Amino acid sequence: MFAAVTKEIRHRFRPLTARMIRFESQGSATIVANEGTEGPHVSVGEEWTNFPEHGLTAVVWRTGRPARVDDYREIPGGEPYLLEGLVSAVAVPIYVSGRLWGFIAIGSATGPLPSDAEERLSEFTDLTATAIAAAQSRAELIASRARIVAAADNARQRIERNLHDGVQQQLVTLALQVSMLVEYPELDAGVRSELENIAAGLRTALTELREIARGVHPAVLTKAGLGPALRALASRSALPIRVRAQVPGRLPPPVEVGAYYVVSESLANAAKHARATHADVVAALDDGVLRVSVSDDGIGGAVAAEGTGLMGLRDRVETLRGRLTIDSPVGGGTRIRCEIPVEPLTEIRGR
Ligand SMILES: Nc1ncnc2c1ncn2[C@@H]1O[C@H](COP(=O)(O)OP(=O)(O)O)[C@@H](O)[C@H]1O
Ligand SMILES: [Mg+2]
Repeated sequence: MFAAVTKEIRHRFRPLTARMIRFESQGSATIVANEGTEGPHVSVGEEWTNFPEHGLTAVVWRTGRPARVDDYREIPGGEPYLLEGLVSAVAVPIYVSGRLWGFIAIGSATGPLPSDAEERLSEFTDLTATAIAAAQSRAELIASRARIVAAADNARQRIERNLHDGVQQQLVTLALQVSMLVEYPELDAGVRSELENIAAGLRTALTELREIARGVHPAVLTKAGLGPALRALASRSALPIRVRAQVPGRLPPPVEVGAYYVVSESLANAAKHARATHADVVAALDDGVLRVSVSDDGIGGAVAAEGTGLMGLRDRVETLRGRLTIDSPVGGGTRIRCEIPVEPLTEIRGR
């Protein structure tokens, strides 16, 4: 984008050179685009500190206003610009959301530049500012979606752990104590039968609690990874399900969790809405992309906008820079596919 704008400026104004410069903190600057002449002091992409005190960069940074140099021979430190063939130059600042972001400058082999140069350049600085602001809010949106998903996942994982280490352990202990009481020889028959009822009730409560904990966050996913978690998921489904999972080793936790939820929601849908006779789950890691698909042979007609399940999956997958596709013709079964790019674990840890 920066290069395109800078090229367009050169095309329009025919100056000797056109540059776009971004300020960094503490008043250093980076040339983000350069068209026209070059010199040892011009290096696109590199941070730049020793610009002359009366040059454009320093003046725009100090004043936040347009700046001009009418003759580089008259400013100390102007030699590199003269060597480059420049005599005069004009700069107009770029403000993004009220903050000084940088500036656009044009330079000429003769001088001074016409007095309306600033005004004509400001059309381009406005355009650039709008584009930068849009890109920034897009990036912020992606980041905030990712934070929401991560926060929800962490909370679920914490609840699962608390259930497991707290209530579940207490129920196990109580069940044990009751079954020991039942063995007590001098027990009245009526009391014994009551105690047996209590023991059975405790076991049911424990099973239900495990089921709930698994729904909140599947511990097998954290412990054993995606392949085993998908197989466990399939084994608990009401439908017959075939699982083919070729996912060696472990993937970054958000990817494992994302893929898991795609499969668990799709299988729940297949059981709940599809009137299917069976479903297929395929997961494979290829060339740094995890591909997962869930297909059923049911009635089709699934639409993401009608529920929260599929919509939530799309949010989650896009947060991981992936894609979710829903293929569900009426009468033709449903196939949910997702592709998630996977960065090697070591790189993620190394950051
Ligand atoms: N596998 C499927 N087969 C047929 N219809 C489906 C299937 N999956 C989803 N649907 C339809 O699409 C809608 C949206 O699904 P979803 O977003 O998961 O919402 P929910 O399951 O909460 O209703 C469902 O209400 C259902 O009508
Ligand atoms: Mg659903």
